Amino acid sequence: MDDPIVVGIDIGTTKVCTLVARLEGDRSFRILGVGNVPSQGIRKGTIIDISAASQAVARSVEKAQRTSGLEITSALVSLAGSHVSSVNSRGVAGISGRIIDQYDIDRALEAARAIAIPHAREIIHIIQRGFSIDEQDGIRQPIGMHGYRLEVEAHIITAAAATVANLRQCVEQAGVQVSQFVLNPLASGEVVLTETEQEMGVVVCDIGGGTTDLAIYINGDVWHTMVLAIGGNHITNDIAHGLRLPLTQAEEIKKQYGHAMQREIGEEDLFSIHPFGEEEATQVSRKVLAHIIEARVEEIFQLVMQEIKRSGYDGLLPAGMVLTGGTANLPGIRNLASEITGLPVRVAQPEDLVGLVDQLQSPAYSTSIGLLHWAMYTNSALPSPHGPYQKGGGPNWDTLKDFLKNLLP
Ligand SMILES: Nc1ncnc2c1ncn2[C@@H]1O[C@H](COP(=O)(O)OP(=O)(O)OP(=O)(O)O)[C@@H](O)[C@H]1O
Ligand SMILES: [Mg+2]
Repeated sequence: MDDPIVVGIDIGTTKVCTLVARLEGDRSFRILGVGNVPSQGIRKGTIIDISAASQAVARSVEKAQRTSGLEITSALVSLAGSHVSSVNSRGVAGISGRIIDQYDIDRALEAARAIAIPHAREIIHIIQRGFSIDEQDGIRQPIGMHGYRLEVEAHIITAAAATVANLRQCVEQAGVQVSQFVLNPLASGEVVLTETEQEMGVVVCDIGGGTTDLAIYINGDVWHTMVLAIGGNHITNDIAHGLRLPLTQAEEIKKQYGHAMQREIGEEDLFSIHPFGEEEATQVSRKVLAHIIEARVEEIFQLVMQEIKRSGYDGLLPAGMVLTGGTANLPGIRNLASEITGLPVRVAQPEDLVGLVDQLQSPAYSTSIGLLHWAMYTNSALPSPHGPYQKGGGPNWDTLKDFLKNLLP
């Protein structure tokens, strides 16, 4: 009964999902509570109305407390939005010929972190993505090796400090402390990617309601991340405009009849709608609907491809793209994505869940489940299978304490 309890709150543009889980061993958890509610006050991953957003978070937390029978005091929280950006940096630590330990890695990461970050930005993650010892590249695990000069390559993710502060305030107003922020695609990537894909080179693409979140994994580590302010809500808007429908009806129609490739739909395939200003229901062909959807989805993947090219890693992704997020439910999206990006594509969702899992086996919950994976790695003594992650917020006090102890006579 004393197994640790972990909590993740995924604050998305369309839904807020709080999950409570009990860790069972080092590599699994059981979901005990689910609080899934429609989102409010959030657009494109950023808060536009703090009290509305906070109420949605409070409702979600309350529901998760009720279903689990546990009180929630702190949680890992998802972060997205176009205010997020990332840079790669290098840091060096002198070793003087002895055996390298964790403290040396921390020192090298600390040096990598000392790049000029504008004062209005906050570091969210520092991810180590490979080491070199005395100019020898490609070292995966330096601990236990000899050397004089340890160099780490780090991927540093920063976010607009004010936006992060708003998000933190919104969660705190709901009575919960934020133990750590996790960038959306890094949470989803933990869930939907296999280790082989991460080793070979792969991009995870989480298309939600308001954002499209990308993370590129190469050699088992995260090499690049980005968040685009475009998603499924744009498709719904296009349908609403194109067919002159209220947004709620456009959303329903998208989910019921939508398809991402018009050429796969027959002319005679019809459904009925109630457009503005019409007395009677009218018949619309699914091909017309697919035409509207295809144009927007095409644009999304063109932007995605542009970002991948800009990263410079477009030639390093033999495992292709793994699609997730609610919009990955759209029929035909896999083929269209593959045509536009020229990459192999598969659609993925959380699998092998234990506990209260009814609605969670869907691409929309990859980020929510991913937060629990992160909590599991943070909690366990074992490193994440994909390299340890460091959150921002100062030095590792445990290693510093050990270091200071060594200095004392
Ligand atoms: N069957 C479906 N066909 C097309 N779109 C779908 C389908 N099911 C869900 N969606 C879309 O998925 C989107 C919601 O996805 P998700 O729950 O991943 O978003 P979110 O996490 O709330 O938002 P974000 O991550 O962008 O902040 C909505 O735009 C919804 O219309
Ligand atoms: Mg999401």
